[in-house]
Amino acid sequence: MEASSSTLSPAFSSLNFSNSTRIYFQRIRAVCTLFIVVLLFNFSSALKLGQTCIANRQCESGFHCETCAANGNIRARCTRIQPLNPSSQVKGLPFNRYSWLTTHNSFARLGKRSATGSVVLSPTNQQDSVTSQLNNGIRGLMLDMYDFENDIWLCHSFGAKCYNYTAFQPAINVLREIQTFLETNPSEIITIFIEDYVRSPEGLTKVFDAAGLRKFWFPVSQMPKKGGNWPIVDDMIQRNQRLVVFTSKSYKEAAEGIAYEWRYVVENQYGNGRMIAGKCPNRGESSAMNTTTKSLVLVNYFPDAPDIATACKHNSAPLISMMNTCYEAAGKRWANFIAVDFYKRSDGGGAPEAADVANGLLVCGCRSISDCKANMTYGACDVPKAGANPPESANVSSFAYPSRLLEFRWLLRTVTAATSLLL
Ligand SMILES: *[C@@H]1O[C@H](CO)[C@@H](O)[C@H](O)[C@H]1NC(C)=O
Ligand SMILES: *[C@@H]1O[C@H](CO)[C@@H](O)[C@H](O)[C@H]1NC(C)=O
Ligand SMILES: *[C@@H]1O[C@H](CO)[C@@H](O)[C@H](O)[C@H]1NC(C)=O
Ligand SMILES: *[C@@H]1O[C@H](CO)[C@@H](O)[C@H](O)[C@H]1NC(C)=O
Repeated sequence: MEASSSTLSPAFSSLNFSNSTRIYFQRIRAVCTLFIVVLLFNFSSALKLGQTCIANRQCESGFHCETCAANGNIRARCTRIQPLNPSSQVKGLPFNRYSWLTTHNSFARLGKRSATGSVVLSPTNQQDSVTSQLNNGIRGLMLDMYDFENDIWLCHSFGAKCYNYTAFQPAINVLREIQTFLETNPSEIITIFIEDYVRSPEGLTKVFDAAGLRKFWFPVSQMPKKGGNWPIVDDMIQRNQRLVVFTSKSYKEAAEGIAYEWRYVVENQYGNGRMIAGKCPNRGESSAMNTTTKSLVLVNYFPDAPDIATACKHNSAPLISMMNTCYEAAGKRWANFIAVDFYKRSDGGGAPEAADVANGLLVCGCRSISDCKANMTYGACDVPKAGANPPESANVSSFAYPSRLLEFRWLLRTVTAATSLLL
């Protein structure tokens, strides 16, 4: 049969033509397969900040998929839910040289029934459990504690009294979640702010002891009283003093060794009437924001009634803007705690970005902790120097489209190159 190929009959000639056609089609098929593979790869790669999505799992780690209709984002996009670790770049600084993202009413979870069996009629402030919040990098928790059912409960109530329909769950449940997290994450520090309605003798002491949290307790005696620095975080970690607890009841500092919050922290007023751009007045219980004998600054930014729909708007550019306002009000001090409702809601970088910005400015004087280099000298940034101006907020469109466009160009180039090789 070999010889016959050299003596071409018209029949063989036509067979040869169909052979080359077959090879041609095989090549086209190969190109198409390549195209599909590249396309699939492209779709299976995780979506980034601002890219439109359908499900959380499509977004890269640390992001989730949500709309923000209040800001005109009708299509769901990947938005951030995790800040960077504040001490990821520069360790060895005092506790008050970092910023810790904080959830307001951390326990008041959307859609949860009361552990009494009752329906909860109180408003809710967060979307996920305290364990999930901690896993996402939340390091400040605001907990409202009440005497209820011969125990201490987490309630979102009124008149300093808890009812079945305002009770979420016994405090010990959430304190045990915190205990488990501290146990399994030996270099993490958590701060608890208690809105304290507990009158039962040693009520708080008993519940913290029962939850196994005593061994992590940061002693009041080591908290700076005159505006000095807090201990270095590495020392707090080494000594296992990784739980900082503040109460709103002043007498408990002497009585139970639980720090009275406003002896150590200045805090701005929260609520609708106080979410005014350019204004950062102190909360009634707190000294004036510029009282530098209190070493820690807490910035609240949430309305009186939590609202999941508008939280995404509040937690976006206005939050960073308020952080700048409070920096000025607090005598040029950045927020050590940034407290929000629905911390996962935003139109882009949200509260996690605000925390990164505060950490960058506190740690190295750069606009984000991601611009700080390991052991760098303060202020030696690659980016414009820090100031009191609001950093550019995540502009969804300016982030999303260029990266989509780049991906598409890359895809096109790959396929063109492959095609020219094969054909
Ligand atoms: C309130 O909850 C407790 C359980 O914690 C239950 O024993 C009691 O019957 C409830 N009261 C009402 C009025 O539902
Ligand atoms: C601190 O802020 C108050 C207003 O809250 C203002 O009256 C006072 O002058 C400020 N003090 C300093 C030292 O800036
Ligand atoms: C930063 O400093 C620490 C302690 O001084 C040292 O162990 C580490 O190697 C330094 N890292 C870099 C990148 O210089
Ligand atoms: C955000 O993008 C819009 C257009 O999509 C533009 O008008 C606006 O100026 C941008 N904002 C910033 C801060 O870049």
